[in-house]
Amino acid sequence: MEERLEAVKEEIRRIVLSDFHRIEEVNDYLLLMRGKLFRPTLLLLVDGLDGTPDEEAVSLAAVVELVHLATLVHDDAVDHSVLRRGLPTVNALWTHQVAIIMGDYLYSRSVMELARLGNMEAVRSLARASNSMSQGEMRQLTSYDALDFNEEDYYQLIACKTASLMEAACEMGALGGGEEHRRRMAAFGHDLGMAFQIADDLLDYTGSKEETGKPTGHDLRERKVTLPLVEALRRVSKPQRETIRTFFTRVDPSEEEIQEVVEIVREARGLEYAEAKAREFASRARAGLSGLPQNPYLEQLLAAVDYAVERTR
Ligand code: IPE
Ligand code: IPE
Ligand code: MG
Ligand code: MG
Repeated sequence: MEERLEAVKEEIRRIVLSDFHRIEEVNDYLLLMRGKLFRPTLLLLVDGLDGTPDEEAVSLAAVVELVHLATLVHDDAVDHSVLRRGLPTVNALWTHQVAIIMGDYLYSRSVMELARLGNMEAVRSLARASNSMSQGEMRQLTSYDALDFNEEDYYQLIACKTASLMEAACEMGALGGGEEHRRRMAAFGHDLGMAFQIADDLLDYTGSKEETGKPTGHDLRERKVTLPLVEALRRVSKPQRETIRTFFTRVDPSEEEIQEVVEIVREARGLEYAEAKAREFASRARAGLSGLPQNPYLEQLLAAVDYAVERTR
C-alpha cells in the first residue's frame, strides 16, 4: 500500500494545485497536516481484492480523500474547532470565511477530477455520499435536544455524516467487479464506517489530544449528543438527568460542567455500551467479507476493521 498511497498524495497535490496565492497557501498548510488516509486505503484494498490493481483507483482514492478533507475543513468551521491533526484548523488560523471557501474549493476540484476521468459510476457514488454528508451535518446542527435524541436518531446521523463516504470509497474500489460484489463492498464500507464513527465519538470522551490531534470533550462543549450519552440517559437517576438537561441549556459550559457530564456518562456505563456497539458493527463488517478469496488485500481489510475500533487516533 505504501507506494500506492504515496501516489495518492501526489495525485492530491496535482488535483488541488492553484495559481492563486491565498489558495496555494492554505493548500500547502492542509497537505502538511497528516491524516490517516483511511478512506483511500480502503478504496485501494478493495480494488486489489481481485488481484489486479487498477491505475484509475489511485485517482479515485485521491478524490475520496479530497472530499473527506473538504468536509473536515467545513466541519471544523461548523463545530468551532481549533485543532485538527495536531495543528490549528483553517478557521482558527485564517477565518471562517476562508474555511468555507476552501472547503468548496477542494470539493469542486475533486468533482472536476471525476469529470476528467469520465467515470459516471464513480460520480454517482460520490455525489450520493456528499449529499448524505451535508444532510448528516445539518441533522447534527439541528439536534440539540439531548433528552429527545435516541439511539436510532444517532445511527441515522452517523450513517449520513460518516458511513456514507466509507461506503462510497469501498464501492468505488469495487467498480471493476459485478453488481453483486459492488453492493457487498458498499455494505461492508457502511458497517465499517458506523464502527469508525462510534470509535471517534468514544475517543472524544476518552482520547488524548496529543494522540487524536483533536480537542477532547469537544462534542459536549458543542453540546453534541453521541452514543455514550444516549445510553447513559437511559440509566441515570432523576437528579443526574436534571444536571444533563441544565447542561444542554448552557451557551458556554465550563470545563467543570463538562467533566460532571463525563462522569455521569462513565458511571452509567455509556462508554462500555458504545464500545460494544462499535464491536457489533465491526463484526458485521467482517462477516461481509466472508467467502472472499484469501489474499493479502483481504487480510489488510480485516485488519482495517480491527483498526477502526481499536485505534487511539
Ligand atoms: C475524522 O476522520 C472525521 C470522522 C469521520 C470521525 P478521520 O479520523 O479519518 O480523520 P483523518 O483524515 O485521519 O484526520
Ligand atoms: C465527523 O464528525 C464529521 C465529518 C464527517 C466531517 P465529527 O465532528 O465527530 O468529526 P471530528 O471529531 O471533528 O473529526
Ligand atoms: Mg467535528
Ligand atoms: Mg468527533
